[in-house]
Amino acid sequence: MADNNPNKSANVVWHHATVTRERRETMNGHRSVILWFTGLSGAGKSTLAHAVEEALHCMGCRTIVLDGDNVRHGLCADLGFSNEDRVENIRRIGELSKLFVETGVIVLTAFISPFRSDRERVRSLVPHGDFLEIYCNSPLEVCEQRDVKGMYKRARAGEIKDFTGISSPYEAPDNPELAVETSVLSIEESVSMVMRLLRERGIVKD
Ligand code: ADX
Repeated sequence: MADNNPNKSANVVWHHATVTRERRETMNGHRSVILWFTGLSGAGKSTLAHAVEEALHCMGCRTIVLDGDNVRHGLCADLGFSNEDRVENIRRIGELSKLFVETGVIVLTAFISPFRSDRERVRSLVPHGDFLEIYCNSPLEVCEQRDVKGMYKRARAGEIKDFTGISSPYEAPDNPELAVETSVLSIEESVSMVMRLLRERGIVKD
């Protein structure tokens, strides 16, 4: 018989784990959280996420970085850069991040994630306080001038369409947990700001 229910998981029953997030967090000695780095291409999201991961790893924390440039080779290899595909990209990363939070891991994501509504949807997937939005704020002119991957030049030349900041919008966060002026601060200063936030929120101990 045809199943007309649009929710394809309607007949699937959730199985509750006995090894809970809390037990994993206790074993790890720190809380789990999503650190959601957002900003233009070339704003330093990946660089900062990896530098924070390095600092956390050295403290004995369990971490994972999910990075747009990498994830788009695997889990999201079927997606492009239309608005629709970006929405689906962030939806998948949000669900993946949620799973990692359940494993007690500190998840650091580095995606442009240009749409406010998508970021807010991910925020709503996890308990209050478990999604920390970190805005890597670097002016378009600076990102474009640096043009580390040569993509802005190609976007201006019309060789890459729907390029964020050029021919596709970026909606800056209204009220991020942290805004880092990545174009003026050193990487060390930027890492310190994130680590301070993590201590203030009780994610890691001093
Ligand atoms: S997002 O908008 O869906 O969040 P994501 O962070 O996964 O984007 O991927 C961005 C990376 O893909 C950029 O750093 C850049 O290297 C590459 N890229 C290729 N085409 C585009 C495009 N049209 N717009 C933005 N980034 C692009």
